[in-house]
Amino acid sequence: MAITFGKGSLLLLLTLVATLAISQAETIIVGGSEGWRYGYDYNDWAAKHGPFYINDTLVFKYPPPSDTVRPHNVYLLPNLYSFLNCDFRGATLLAGPNQGEGYGFSYVLTEVRPNYFASGEGNGDDCKKGMMKFVAIPFYRLYP
Ligand SMILES: *[C@@H]1O[C@H](CO)[C@@H](O)[C@H](O)[C@H]1NC(C)=O
Repeated sequence: MAITFGKGSLLLLLTLVATLAISQAETIIVGGSEGWRYGYDYNDWAAKHGPFYINDTLVFKYPPPSDTVRPHNVYLLPNLYSFLNCDFRGATLLAGPNQGEGYGFSYVLTEVRPNYFASGEGNGDDCKKGMMKFVAIPFYRLYP
């Protein structure tokens, strides 16, 4: 059986490659229209949104604290244990309560490793009771 590739197939292939190249890195709003807030299930959101890829940008959007708005922040927790227990010892503060305004706080996933995100406000309650935590493990895309 002979397989022939006509001009049409080549064009289709080129179009496909171009489309894939354009979609290489995505900007993802954490929580979508919910933003980064107390009481939304980010574990569930991450499971439904994933997989994440290297160089994707996660954007955390949350209003600055006021009389009616409680503060939030963004931490990177060091390991699975600290993630499961909402233990912020040894965690890295990425963004404070005033950094989620406007365009939000952006974080680029640059390494293939679990990124344990959580908010530590309310003495850890954001994480413990407010479900403000999720894991993002970026993969390499299969195409250049
Ligand atoms: C991610 O972005 C950096 C900087 O632009 C680039 O050097 C690197 O090749 C990119 N990695 C992937 C897997 O796209």
